[in-house]
Amino acid sequence: MNPLLSSLQPYPFERLKQLFSTVTPNPAYAPISLGIGEPRHATPQLVLDALAKATAQLAAYPATAGLPALRESCVNWIQRRYGLKLDAATQVLPVNGSREALFAFAQTVIDPTREAVVVCPNPFYQIYEGAALLAGAQTYYAPSDPALNFNVNWDNVPADVWAKTQLLFVCSPGNPTGAVMPLSDWEKLFALSDQYGFVIASDECYSEIYFREEAPLGGLEAAAKLGRNDFKNLVAFTSLSKRSNVPGMRSGFVAGDAHILKQFLLYRTYHGSAMSGMVQAASIAAWDDEAHVVANREQYRQKFASVTPVLETVMDVRLPDAGFYLWAAVPGGDDVAFARDLLAQYNVTVLPGSYLAREGQGLGGANQANPGAGRIRMALVADTAECLEAAQRIVAFIKNTHS
Ligand SMILES: Cc1ncc(COP(=O)(O)O)c(C=O)c1O
Repeated sequence: MNPLLSSLQPYPFERLKQLFSTVTPNPAYAPISLGIGEPRHATPQLVLDALAKATAQLAAYPATAGLPALRESCVNWIQRRYGLKLDAATQVLPVNGSREALFAFAQTVIDPTREAVVVCPNPFYQIYEGAALLAGAQTYYAPSDPALNFNVNWDNVPADVWAKTQLLFVCSPGNPTGAVMPLSDWEKLFALSDQYGFVIASDECYSEIYFREEAPLGGLEAAAKLGRNDFKNLVAFTSLSKRSNVPGMRSGFVAGDAHILKQFLLYRTYHGSAMSGMVQAASIAAWDDEAHVVANREQYRQKFASVTPVLETVMDVRLPDAGFYLWAAVPGGDDVAFARDLLAQYNVTVLPGSYLAREGQGLGGANQANPGAGRIRMALVADTAECLEAAQRIVAFIKNTHS
């Protein structure tokens, strides 16, 4: 067996299952889960129709590089969304959702024959860690700072860590924090990437769900604003899962540095991760249509506008920049006990923030408090009425137990 497998941590939902294994939820309430961040709004009909029309595609092996028409759709979307003109032949590549792509990307760019560090935000999407460890790298966790709208203070990462860094994961809008990284941070990271030679993987799968007027700044957009039109050492990861409510379709794309994408395509050819032709056809329909995305965003906006003020009366929580999570501080500060007791008393599932983060910002996660501790993540993916009901139960729970 690959010995690196034993370095993988239990996934947060495994830990949650373990925590809840001894809890009997109050049967007086119907269960409501705000635990899993899986989109639950309806899949647009135009995607279903396109899938149904494309069954003939099943008769042929798809190419790993994807259909030219899909690559065109992706670059056209980038042009509409960010005002950038990319080359469909070399600067974009379809992937089977961003999860597999984030993982495979680390395997492609990391050179394990040299000391390798992967810098991750903390808390973070758990795939970054597994991808880094299985590629033979060490992780360095850079904590999100509540004083910086939950962004990372990149100045706190020591130079000797940057010197060994081969890959940096950026997640903007962030999961779980919802924070959008400002241009000044991008500028700093590009300068560090130039100085130390590391690659930046920009995970942007929540980019289309936002609550401010201005759409979140994308990594490629930031690069272009700073005159980096070749996107040197930068690859952005975009997904249809949340944008178009198709988490089961497994479709997204990566875009950016053509030299890196050439190597990534080579890796993927052997990895066997070509996207089904049927899914490609449905993806073209999804990328080409913006009306369903606007409607989806409006649905989240209304939901967050009704749920957030209810929770604000009892806990430290506010409307995020983007994404579909609330990242709230719990009264009393024990996120694990909060999640356990909330389930027991009110049959509402939330995810303890400490499960999404690691103790420590040092190499391997040494010697610092867990930046997710004392917070919970609530995924507002169910319909508004259900999310509102959950919020009201949380208010009652906090009033009963914490005041
Ligand atoms: C931050 C982040 N990145 C990537 C993904 C993967 O999404 P997908 O593989 O559906 O594109 C998720 C899914 O929840 C996520 O939260």
